[in-house]
Amino acid sequence: MRSKEIFILSLLVFIAGYSKAQTINIPIETKSNALVLQVNSNKGLNIIHFGEKLGDPKEYAQIPSTYKQAEDYTGVLNSAYTPSGSRNLMEPAISVTHADGNNSLDLKYVSHNIFKIDENVTLTSILLKDPAYNFEVTLHYKTYYKEDVTEQWSVIKHHEKGNVILNKFASANLYVKADSYWLKQFHGDWAREMQPEEAKLTHGIKTLDTKLGTRANIFQPSVFMVSLDKIATEDEGKVLYGSLEWSGNFRIDLELDNQNNLRIIAGINNYASAYTLKPNEEFTTPPFLYTFSDKGKGDASRKLQSWARDYKILDGNGTRLTLLNNWEATYFDFNENKLFELIKDTKKLGVDLFLLDDGWFANKYPRNADNTGLGDWEANKTKLPNGISSLVREAKNNDVKFGIWIEPEMVSPKSELYEKHPEWVIKQPEREEYYYRNQLVLDLSNPEVQDFVYGIVDDLFTENPDLAYIKWDCNAVIYNAHSSYLKNQSHFYIEYVRGLYKVLERIRAKYPTVPIMLCSGGGGRVDYGALQYFTEFWLSDNTDPLERIFMQWEYSYFYPAIVSANHVTDWGKQPIKFRTDVAMMGKLGFDIVVSELEEKELAFCQAAIKLYDGLKSTIWHGDQYRLANPTEGQVASMLYIDESKSNGVIFNYLVGNRYGDNSKLPIRLKGLDANKKYSIKEVNLYPGTSSSIDSEKIYSGEFLMKIGFNPDVNARRTSVVLQLSEVE
Ligand code: GLA
Repeated sequence: MRSKEIFILSLLVFIAGYSKAQTINIPIETKSNALVLQVNSNKGLNIIHFGEKLGDPKEYAQIPSTYKQAEDYTGVLNSAYTPSGSRNLMEPAISVTHADGNNSLDLKYVSHNIFKIDENVTLTSILLKDPAYNFEVTLHYKTYYKEDVTEQWSVIKHHEKGNVILNKFASANLYVKADSYWLKQFHGDWAREMQPEEAKLTHGIKTLDTKLGTRANIFQPSVFMVSLDKIATEDEGKVLYGSLEWSGNFRIDLELDNQNNLRIIAGINNYASAYTLKPNEEFTTPPFLYTFSDKGKGDASRKLQSWARDYKILDGNGTRLTLLNNWEATYFDFNENKLFELIKDTKKLGVDLFLLDDGWFANKYPRNADNTGLGDWEANKTKLPNGISSLVREAKNNDVKFGIWIEPEMVSPKSELYEKHPEWVIKQPEREEYYYRNQLVLDLSNPEVQDFVYGIVDDLFTENPDLAYIKWDCNAVIYNAHSSYLKNQSHFYIEYVRGLYKVLERIRAKYPTVPIMLCSGGGGRVDYGALQYFTEFWLSDNTDPLERIFMQWEYSYFYPAIVSANHVTDWGKQPIKFRTDVAMMGKLGFDIVVSELEEKELAFCQAAIKLYDGLKSTIWHGDQYRLANPTEGQVASMLYIDESKSNGVIFNYLVGNRYGDNSKLPIRLKGLDANKKYSIKEVNLYPGTSSSIDSEKIYSGEFLMKIGFNPDVNARRTSVVLQLSEVE
């Protein structure tokens, strides 16, 4: 938007010298919701409402105070950014030690500013100051009106006569009122990512956090949801979704207070991270992201997914490349000839790109297993005597693109890089090294290391301008956190992530659109901080399609299908059709030995890829409706429908083997136009099989949504893909 328009659109509200009794309401509204802040008579900034918005914003002034009976708590429990060390005795959002050693903080409202960035996006900024110390915090609320999404962060600053220590420095502090609160959270491990748990919150503090440094999400992702009053279903109930846009240690405290209200405090984890802030220096926290729906989990997901495509994910509305990956086909065991064959197979299969995985680099300590070579990013001369460029050329000759795996943040103890630059490695100088997957992490807080990591990518592209894709892996957590570069070790975890983002910024400045997959020993690093730089992510090394139905289901609450990289592999016992159908529910790839496919299997895959070409736009850019939950019945069913509600695709699977359980059938469709007429045709049939679905029948959208449709999934038809088309 042009600066002139911004100027005209921007509305500056500066309020000063108001009388002591005056209260000011600051409603931060989106299409359906409002977060209403109130400046009370003591200039404290409190949250008086979070949830559905009112038709007349003036009525917010009539919201009764919750604390009539407990005046002592006024402005403490529901503070919009709770300081510590003065009147507040609850979990703080911010806690500091001033330059003079004093530990108290109070924050009073000074002014606020509402800036309309464009028709849909508004930034509300509120300045708070401590009356006793020259210390200030600006709260920022960036709202996306149509999507009902808010990003909230804070900027902390002071002008004291020395450094201030930030002991806690949250991005956001929310305050929610309901009868009861139900937290849905996720846990995981390698090959078991995104395992859901849902339970009622009890009094006290429930903390979701990680201290792993890198691969921050592997045990505990930062995405969560809280249902209000009762567990929200797919289509009903009030639910808040939250997540931190940060690829490192995070901490989210959910405190059910003595007045039965929920305080949510989210930010970078302050674990081992007390931050020394110089006078006039700004500390900007990462955004805490949230959306709220009173129409259930499905509506909340679609809002978040559409926001992510429009505003966050790199090229979120663009296209993606289908691919053949060699990891499970070869592991470390390959040479140029073998790869040439795989490149030919890529063409034969009909996908866009061949992706060369781990094992292609290092000479002194060749990368023939996972315990050597990381850091030495020259092609291995024995395996690839003619380098990467000959592979890129071969791909071009075969009319496919070429992509490559790197793990640039890591170093093997057996590597030339480690020998040359031991000071670049994260380790405790006085302690024995401790490895995760036989490797160590490079110190990205060090600008020299940032240059090195940037250089890995830049060199690959400079030497191979036709290189079309990168898989960026990150397999180790940070043990023995210590930087030989940093003077203040308490800054390490934060500076690591800042360093990573600096590198990614530089890469994107020079290579703005090249697709890069975010991978972390499976799905160890998936968050919207990182996804600004990546076009897709690897959900898990677990590609057993039955497991994937569940895992992709859980990821889909927070992430759209276009970023979900799903590969057909040999994991699991399901036939190739089942495996391919599941992988099609996102960004399709293959990691199989094409030459070992039977004739029919190959023919099926080739046809599936062609079919996918026609469906992918609906899957990637359409709205997603979860129809039948695999955790609740025998059948899983997921629908994607385009904006015009004319074209859809429904994936259906048998996920249980109980006899005669038809209770969830027929499956009621969602998101259609009740007045449109549709036909339903089964697609992606395995060669030699026929469909039991009558594609000649015509249904109204109303019928399909009120009565439903039976995809006829059964033991002989475990996986059924249906194409829904509007009939004129
Ligand atoms: C990680 C990734 C895999 C593969 C291997 C290579 O585990 O998740 O997909 O790339 O590394 O070592």
